[in-house]
Amino acid sequence: MRKTSTRLRLAGGLAALLLSVGAPVAQADENEPPTLAELAQRHGRYFGSATDNPELTDEPYKAVLGTEFDMITPGNGMKWYATEPQQGVFDFSQGDEIVNLARANHQRVRGHTLVWHSQLPGWLTSRAWTADELRAVLKKHIQTEVRHYKGKIYAWDVVNEAFNEDGTYRETIFYKTLGPGYIADALRWAHQADPKAKLYLNDYNVEGTGPKSDAYYQLVKELKAQGVPVHGFGLQAHLALQYGYPGTLEDNLRRFSRLGLDTALTEVDVRMYVPADDAKLATQAEWYRDMTEACLAVRRCVGITLWDYTDKYSWIPAFFDGEGAALPWDEQLRPKPAYFAIREALG
Ligand code: XIL
Repeated sequence: MRKTSTRLRLAGGLAALLLSVGAPVAQADENEPPTLAELAQRHGRYFGSATDNPELTDEPYKAVLGTEFDMITPGNGMKWYATEPQQGVFDFSQGDEIVNLARANHQRVRGHTLVWHSQLPGWLTSRAWTADELRAVLKKHIQTEVRHYKGKIYAWDVVNEAFNEDGTYRETIFYKTLGPGYIADALRWAHQADPKAKLYLNDYNVEGTGPKSDAYYQLVKELKAQGVPVHGFGLQAHLALQYGYPGTLEDNLRRFSRLGLDTALTEVDVRMYVPADDAKLATQAEWYRDMTEACLAVRRCVGITLWDYTDKYSWIPAFFDGEGAALPWDEQLRPKPAYFAIREALG
């Protein structure tokens, strides 16, 4: 394992060098092992990673980001607080930086996210809005952002985390002010602004069947019946060892496929209580393998995105007390058992 990790780091360094002199990454040595992206492409899938602007000064990190993956999601840079910090004043600099980097590396981009209750700007949450006012604000936000990135985004997470665990609508500012129709409106507005982008609903704890994923299943059925442009269902897949593996994942992916929808695992990580040990890392590797196999088994599961690829930049330690070690590369950018398990599953 040591030998492999050294080789990978060297490969990353070489890639960085090639990039800096402008040679295309595709010309990598034929003796190099295929990347996760190349392995996934053999199945007609992508393999992606989230990234965030502050990390982009880390050259070894960037080298792996730019070679191992073929789909990139900005972890924060396209969220409402970042893109419309004051009402009507738009700032796409962070998203642009990531889109430009991805394009330079011949990677596609998932846009994340247009409508969400979290990470909203203060101007939006600190006052009351009438339905007409908020509808206009929401439409302008969605259409300005989607238009800005028109032609550069493979898929948008249009609405993120719309349901509670029991399948009732989350009482967000949008739901409370506009009612459930805000979801169809958001999809229609996004579609007007970039008719070629795939439009997704995205959530966590929807990997298995249950009240929350059932709510999406019903909603998508209704939206489809009404001719609302909805093309994909994103399963975030923020898993945790202490909660068990969602054994119905493959069945769940399949039922959404049957509705005529693409599915994707959009924010994958598998957290554990730290410190990690060999047993936990082995279980984690199994779960990554199982998730990858589940996606490959369902035709319309189009790809998998890690919520960043290295423990060095994982969001988990800051959000879940005592937990971490959730990603396939460790804090030193060395591949963990999970990385090799994914490779085997993509085999
Ligand atoms: C997280 C980011 O990774 C963090 O940097 C940020 O502080 C909070 O949000 N579900 C989502 C993502 O849809 O947008 C969240 O990203 C993780 C949970």
